Amino acid sequence: MARVRREDFIPDRVWIEEESGYVAIDRSEEPHRWEGVVYANRVVVTQFDDGDTMWPAVGRRPTCSASMPSAVVGMLDALDVRQGQRVLEIGAGTGGTTAALLPLLPAESTDYVYSDISSAFLAAAEERFARFPFVSYRVIDIERSPQMQGLSAGSFDIVLAANVYVLPPPANEVKPVVVPSS
Ligand SMILES: C[S@@+](CC[C@H](N)C(=O)[O-])C[C@H]1O[C@@H](n2cnc3c(N)ncnc32)[C@H](O)[C@@H]1O
Repeated sequence: MARVRREDFIPDRVWIEEESGYVAIDRSEEPHRWEGVVYANRVVVTQFDDGDTMWPAVGRRPTCSASMPSAVVGMLDALDVRQGQRVLEIGAGTGGTTAALLPLLPAESTDYVYSDISSAFLAAAEERFARFPFVSYRVIDIERSPQMQGLSAGSFDIVLAANVYVLPPPANEVKPVVVPSS
């Protein structure tokens, strides 16, 4: 995780939660503070209210964040991705989890689908992760049927969703796209 360049995927304008509430930080105005929070073991909020609230205003609900690095390490350890597996990432957002995971995967035998409900994240991710040719990018709304969005049954070995709050009820919908033994 220490090798991951977090400035490559964390936006220049973020919010952090302090005792007084959320505080906005702009990289160009406070570069040292920005770098400090981006490399700290804490959550950094990158979007409020699905983008309806514009920076620096604090919205009602944080809808995208870069997860706490220690939580990502624990999750990747438990994930145990092996040679040749097909991975679907749901709600990949700005790619905080992806950035830690991709360098660990064997390029010649991995298929990795990077998805999010918001197409705005995909174009940026495609550029950011261009050096990983085994990644493809697509819009998937996990609150809708995966099959209706072109995902066939048993097409993934692992489905990963880090910090995607909508998951509990639709998780059952995801099951058919994962091979039964996974
Ligand atoms: C808190 S962010 C997490 C980003 C990333 N997984 C991480 O850990 O850094 C939640 C992401 O879920 C996405 N999302 C919200 N609703 C979704 C849905 N119904 N289907 C797929 N993605 C969704 C948002 O667009 C956002 O990018």
